[in-house]
Amino acid sequence: MANKSVWSDNRFWQRSATWITGFASILLIWLTFDTSAQISMGTDEDIQNGVKKKVPGATVINYRITYEMDAKRGHEVPVIGGKEKFFGRDDWSEEEAAAMLHLGKLGSQAKNCMDCHTLLGNGAYYAPDLTKAWLDPAWGPDGSMQAMTGKSTKEEAIAEFLQHPDQYPTHARMMPNLNITEKEAIGLVAFLKHMSSIDTNGFPRNFGKIKGAINGK
Ligand code: HEC
Repeated sequence: MANKSVWSDNRFWQRSATWITGFASILLIWLTFDTSAQISMGTDEDIQNGVKKKVPGATVINYRITYEMDAKRGHEVPVIGGKEKFFGRDDWSEEEAAAMLHLGKLGSQAKNCMDCHTLLGNGAYYAPDLTKAWLDPAWGPDGSMQAMTGKSTKEEAIAEFLQHPDQYPTHARMMPNLNITEKEAIGLVAFLKHMSSIDTNGFPRNFGKIKGAINGK
């Protein structure tokens, strides 16, 4: 009987195909669960217990968020600090905070911010990337936007700007008035603050090194 090579044996190829398909399916199922776990939103309890989540819970709006260099990872990461008042309160409940974020998310879709801005990698680059806009020093105590809008906190200054962007043109490009109401503006600021707390693996690149994206200050 002639000696038959394993390479020309049909059963070898059938078995290999079965094993590879089986292995790939298990890997994909595992990756799906792993990704879901990574991108699922944390809770208020996680924040209180210092459990780090890529997407922190809605009550992160009750805390100070900073952007700090992580030497190991080689880029800046959002760091949740101590309590910080947001529109006068630092005790927004999980339900209240989630409702604000929801309103902001709906507002961002209704007014199509992505037409001009980028949010979490989606959108346009006509206007500044909004992923980390909350951390833009222009809105902080050393920036110029609080004085310009006549407000004494970051959140109030951004909310005022969103309602009347055409009154505060700081760039060659002006954001048009989108008829955003006060309530919508508060929701949008909550949405922006929460988005800035999401660990986006350093995206957008070099944001922390840009001094005041909005007006260079
Ligand atoms: C038609 C284009 C356009 C749309 C739509 C638009 N914006 Fe803007 N936005 C701009 C421009 C241009 C600027 C820069 C303004 C300046 O520098 O004065 C800006 C600036 C901003 C800033 C300041 C950014 C920073 O880095 O500090 C925020 C916050 C902002 N927009 C939020 C929003 C939100 C929220 C929406 C949706 C509800 C929105 N924008 C929709 C054009 C737009």
